[in-house]
Amino acid sequence: MPTVYDSVVGSKAYQSAKQQLLDAIRKELATISMPKPAAEELKAQYEKILKDVADVRGRDLFYKWVGSGAGNGPFIELGDGSIKYDLITGIGVNFFGHGNLELFEAELDGIWCDVHQGNLGPNPEYGALMREVLSTVGAKSKLKKIWLTTCGATANEIAIKIIRQKKFPATKIMAFKDCFAGRTTFLQELTDNAAYRQGQPTYGEVHHLPFFNPKSKSTAAEQAAAVVAQMKEEFHRHPGKFACLEFELVQGEGGFNAAPREFILPIIEEAKKNGLAIWDDEIQTFGRTGEIWCYQRLGLDEHIDVATVAKLLQNGAVLYSEEYNPKPGLISGTFAGATSGMRAGLKGLELLKTKLASPNGRIRQLEKVALGEFERIKSGPQGRHVVDYTVVGGMIAFTLFDGTLDQVKKYLFKLWDLGAIGFYCGHGPYRVRMLPPFGAMTDEQLRDVFKRCEQAIEETAKELKP
Ligand SMILES: Cc1ncc(COP(=O)(O)O)c(C=O)c1O
Repeated sequence: MPTVYDSVVGSKAYQSAKQQLLDAIRKELATISMPKPAAEELKAQYEKILKDVADVRGRDLFYKWVGSGAGNGPFIELGDGSIKYDLITGIGVNFFGHGNLELFEAELDGIWCDVHQGNLGPNPEYGALMREVLSTVGAKSKLKKIWLTTCGATANEIAIKIIRQKKFPATKIMAFKDCFAGRTTFLQELTDNAAYRQGQPTYGEVHHLPFFNPKSKSTAAEQAAAVVAQMKEEFHRHPGKFACLEFELVQGEGGFNAAPREFILPIIEEAKKNGLAIWDDEIQTFGRTGEIWCYQRLGLDEHIDVATVAKLLQNGAVLYSEEYNPKPGLISGTFAGATSGMRAGLKGLELLKTKLASPNGRIRQLEKVALGEFERIKSGPQGRHVVDYTVVGGMIAFTLFDGTLDQVKKYLFKLWDLGAIGFYCGHGPYRVRMLPPFGAMTDEQLRDVFKRCEQAIEETAKELKP
């Protein structure tokens, strides 16, 4: 006998209403197909919305940006009717593009159910999402268990708790300079940015090691050897006190700094030799770098004990090996995720598995287009303003001019006026950062984005001229 749920979604009336709804949305969203300026008649009302947001949250938005709710692929419609390329996608959340009806169709069959699911009495999406994420870790991986959370920071908090429980009485963490891990009291100490912890206590729990420097004269192996020497010193200074090594394989907020395998592997091996857990924060890299996991791109599968994800999964999660499965009582929480988020996350995983990730997948194709575009700009008249660039799948950053925050902001607002929204990362040099919706972009759209980027370089350079 079918459940009532199955009867609802299986009914003819439900299916035909659903198709009508999807068709109506599809038809309207198709009109969003290129950047355009604001509608005069919406401007005054939009200014009010912006002012109200700034009033209630106590500070202005970075951009004059409140979406209307509609979008199509890489395009987002703002409340003033303007349309822009969204190249930052909610800091990486909307990787599958705006108005993605595949995701919405998946969400639909759950949005009339309970809004949120918890760890006590979940619906089927809860187990399905956990099972699906685990199915992506690869045959060599030790990651066998998973716990859902509602954001990246909570996933990281759980990660450190289960590591510390396992490694008790060791509590200290080795991480890398310029790392970012989230905004909680513990994570502001782990994050290497003094501006993010003003007025907050630190407990001397984190040692920040130098990260890979692509501009150094030393090779990756030589840089790793220097880091290993520093680790040895720290182990000697604090015997038995270090519980784990934590890293982002491509540092996100810290500047899109990518670690090659030759750098990170000897460091991981030294950490393991000293009994540390290996914790890979993939909150920003998950699904984005060409493989489903960035550790797969670097061939580090068997080394990871604990991994954290969020953002494009539309949910947070911490994964761990059998031996890190915590004792009852350590982890729980009211929310495991919103039903629609879990359903969209499941659909996103399917898209990653079937078309986006893999050595010949769509992400790698777009990576090639982006690299070609940077080469084109570098060899053209604006090339002298581009100091360097990084492209790892759908993680793109470049340094312009002297790399000051002021210059990057000037550039970003120029780009905004030209119909594309980016953001910045790094702490000097400050870099232009993009997390484009590679899950829903054509080659042509990406090339058009780069044309706009190039024009914005030219116009900013003119303004910066003394
Ligand atoms: C690498 C990394 N870790 C942790 C976080 C924190 O995630 P959330 O903002 O969902 O708490 C982020 C967010 O940008 C991140 O990029």
